[in-house]
Amino acid sequence: MRLEPDFLLFETPVFMGSLRQTLPHWLEKKHYTQVIVLTDDNTQTHCWPQIQNLLPHSVKTITIPAGEQHKNLKTCEWIWNQMLLQQCDRKSLLINLGGGVIGDMGGFCAATWKRGIDFIQIPTTLLSMTDAAIGGKTGIDFQGIKNIIGVFQNPAAIFIDPTFLNTLAERELRSGFAEVIKHALIGSPVLLHKIHQSGNTPLPHLDWSELLRESIAVKIHVVAQDPTEQNLRMLLNFGHTIGHALESYFLDTDTPLTHGEAIAIGMICEIPKDKRAEVAKTLLRYFPVVPIPETAYPELWNMMLQDKKNSSGTVRMAVPDELPFTLNVLELSEMQLPDLLSEYQNFSPA
Ligand code: GLY
Repeated sequence: MRLEPDFLLFETPVFMGSLRQTLPHWLEKKHYTQVIVLTDDNTQTHCWPQIQNLLPHSVKTITIPAGEQHKNLKTCEWIWNQMLLQQCDRKSLLINLGGGVIGDMGGFCAATWKRGIDFIQIPTTLLSMTDAAIGGKTGIDFQGIKNIIGVFQNPAAIFIDPTFLNTLAERELRSGFAEVIKHALIGSPVLLHKIHQSGNTPLPHLDWSELLRESIAVKIHVVAQDPTEQNLRMLLNFGHTIGHALESYFLDTDTPLTHGEAIAIGMICEIPKDKRAEVAKTLLRYFPVVPIPETAYPELWNMMLQDKKNSSGTVRMAVPDELPFTLNVLELSEMQLPDLLSEYQNFSPA
């Protein structure tokens, strides 16, 4: 058992490694009146059994259906109702056991319950371990717009146990890996070197604790400088301006893209031309070129105009500059988009 965190983000300790070594000891010191665990159908089946015996016998679970389509006010209402039935008082703890949807929505429900109760994040996907669970963004989608309602509220603790990655399909692991590569490109030549060194090792066989540690260090560094995204934190949106539009576009086709697949394309297109071939070489090893029909371009442009970073009808992209942790905001015009997308599609496989 140990209580020394691997990272501290403001007041929030981040523990890495086996939950058995950290969670019970941390909980013991806290004296919560009750502990509730929020899961979805998947984490209830695959992850809850792994932590159940580390928690008090009195712990209750609240389980919601899995999927982004449930990250809405209706599900929050249902969660709050369950909290009411369980008589959650202000000294209760909510444990969010799951990926980004569970972490964001559970964090939001906890942050607003009786003006805020403690919650902890136990991310179970690579995407949430390296990104979503860290940095205090909580919230839900509303009227089809992602994360438009929410608050910044840091969890009481974050527990990263890479053994949960064994529960993931390879495509989901690869999706999260795009965010790991993003962290390498914006702030860690060391991490980029480790990624290159990993050669052709299949993702499930990588040494995840090492890669996660470097990747999380980047996220924590950025959030610590700019917790409410006034400036530097925008850098975490690298690849997401074009990537989010592609993700939404392909969602309505027979070949939807994962978040990571979409932002991998976004990163290749958004990085300045002089670095594009090199960045493409890294990404195309994991994310083969996806054909994008020319008929999609106007729709993609319209979707990009909705991005939160824009002002007065221009599209702005946050991209890394030469040095680690330097933000460059570039404007994109509608005329440039076809060239970027066709240059991307002309890259040969890595
Ligand atoms: N996922 C981007 C951020 O946390 O700011």
